[in-house]
Amino acid sequence: MASPKSTSHDHALKLIQDLADKGRSGARAICFFNNKGGVGKTTLVANLAAQLALNLNQRILVVDADPQCNLTQYVLTDNEFEGTYGGLSATGTIYDVIHPLSIGKGYSRDLPIRKVPKFGFDAIIGDPRLALKEDLLAQDWRDAKAGGTRGLRTTFLFSNLIDRAAEHYDFIFFDMGPSLGAINRSILLSADHFVVPMSIDIFSLWAIKNIGQALGVWQTELANGIRFAEDPSELPRNRLKGRNLGFLGYVTQQHKEKSENKVSRVVEAYNAIKTKLPHAVASVLKSYFPSPTFDPHLGDIKHLASLAPKSQTLHTPMITVTLKGSYTVTRSQARKIYESIAERFFENLLAVEAKSKASNS
Ligand SMILES: Nc1ncnc2c1ncn2[C@@H]1O[C@H](COP(=O)(O)OP(=O)(O)OP(=O)(O)O)[C@@H](O)[C@H]1O
Ligand SMILES: [Mg+2]
Repeated sequence: MASPKSTSHDHALKLIQDLADKGRSGARAICFFNNKGGVGKTTLVANLAAQLALNLNQRILVVDADPQCNLTQYVLTDNEFEGTYGGLSATGTIYDVIHPLSIGKGYSRDLPIRKVPKFGFDAIIGDPRLALKEDLLAQDWRDAKAGGTRGLRTTFLFSNLIDRAAEHYDFIFFDMGPSLGAINRSILLSADHFVVPMSIDIFSLWAIKNIGQALGVWQTELANGIRFAEDPSELPRNRLKGRNLGFLGYVTQQHKEKSENKVSRVVEAYNAIKTKLPHAVASVLKSYFPSPTFDPHLGDIKHLASLAPKSQTLHTPMITVTLKGSYTVTRSQARKIYESIAERFFENLLAVEAKSKASNS
């Protein structure tokens, strides 16, 4: 567990109190998005959510909205996973949320929320059949842009989910697949804030540009749809009232470090790209910065060697893997890294929300 004496940990607790003092009720919906695959999105969502839940007493719901279901496979035990997906069709997954809407029955009645004790959070687990609903969301998007009731209702599917879960949680985290497809669009248009996990490579620089452009186009198109809505009473009021998608920052993952005289340094080849990231991020996402001095860099998670796959086979967060040997070292590094990212996460959340409150008043 986190050292209670750590300044990052204590500061994060103070920031959480500051957030509570702002008097906002209901969970904040945060999505973790990068249309580049394999950059560590799922690993970050699961472990940051665990850090917030286990060490900072936050009530977290994690939604696995990626048809690959990697987060689900990570956090459920092998028996639970087999018990859910071993038969012909799984029940109690995110498919239960989407299916009724897709056959014209409106929003689902209940949310299939389950507990994930080792990670300290609740989850709506994923389903490969989510991929089958991608077409539905894509078709309905055309209708949504023109203000059609059905299209807007489908587009606000995740908004509806967030609204229904909001009173029970501090945060709702979304793990998303690596695409600029319809499911991810619907989540991004419903979330309060987004975080960009990335790897240190030139492909991530390019992906950030795509994210910036896609978000801009989608938000404009949705604003038109809302303006021309056939039936404005269908719009999810809570989500639309003065809302603006906030950018909390980016996290780099899996770079290699080398140690010289007990000082760790990022390997030079990574550093060459890493130094370009702040400029690349600012150039496409500057309009999301709450102030010119905003620092979107939430932290760097170095390659944690075999701690990552070990935490997967144990279905346990990296910060609580209890094995001895070399794992003791990497686990303590993981703890420090996640403590620091959690602290930066709350700092930026406060900065972004202070700005959005000032613009709305
Ligand atoms: N800090 C790390 N150290 C070592 N391995 C890591 C680290 N972060 C992630 N990995 C490994 O990298 C791989 C990709 O990570 P992950 O599945 O989280 O990426 P992703 O962005 O969610 O992928 P996808 O785009 O397919 O959803 C996994 O095998 C994971 O164990
Ligand atoms: Mg993933």
